[in-house]
Amino acid sequence: MATVLYPGSFDPLHLGHLDVIEQSVELFGDVTVGVMHNPSKPSGMFTLEQRTAMIRASIEHLSSVRIMTFAGLAVDAVKQSGASFIVKGLRTGGDFEVEQQMAHTNFAVSGVRTVYLPCKPALVSISSRFIREIAQYGGDVTSLVTAPVAAELALLFPAKQSPSTGNA
Ligand code: PNS
Repeated sequence: MATVLYPGSFDPLHLGHLDVIEQSVELFGDVTVGVMHNPSKPSGMFTLEQRTAMIRASIEHLSSVRIMTFAGLAVDAVKQSGASFIVKGLRTGGDFEVEQQMAHTNFAVSGVRTVYLPCKPALVSISSRFIREIAQYGGDVTSLVTAPVAAELALLFPAKQSPSTGNA
């Protein structure tokens, strides 16, 4: 058994993220979800507090998962949380390219290792960016997110009642 850190923006958490959390619990035991405050991402939709609250409400069934927030390096959050290594989910080859570079750099500067978990095939197309975009235009994202996230998005962006053609 180990404690692992799963870092991310989670803006918002989606079913792909939840899959990685559940796989990590099954494989490693204790999981800390590290929610990053990233001032260089002004395109964010939810505050750190909102993202954390949605995650908390979505993982009530997982007693070995904790949540922390962090603002600096993921490897520092690993040490702060007492985790042994970082866990990341891989959806596509594109993810692999980015994650591999980060994993190598994180190991080079701190000795902290990263383990990749493949996402469920049914979930590989889900991304927080697409969820934000669809929800902003009143689209239905309930099949992509947990019920607490769907409820928060519905408050922010009430669903369209009828399709608009743009005609005056
Ligand atoms: O959900 P995201 O936005 O894809 O998560 C990216 C995140 C937060 C995991 C990544 O940007 C990260 O680890 N940021 C912390 C800063 C850091 O450690 N940078 C060095 C990377 S080698």
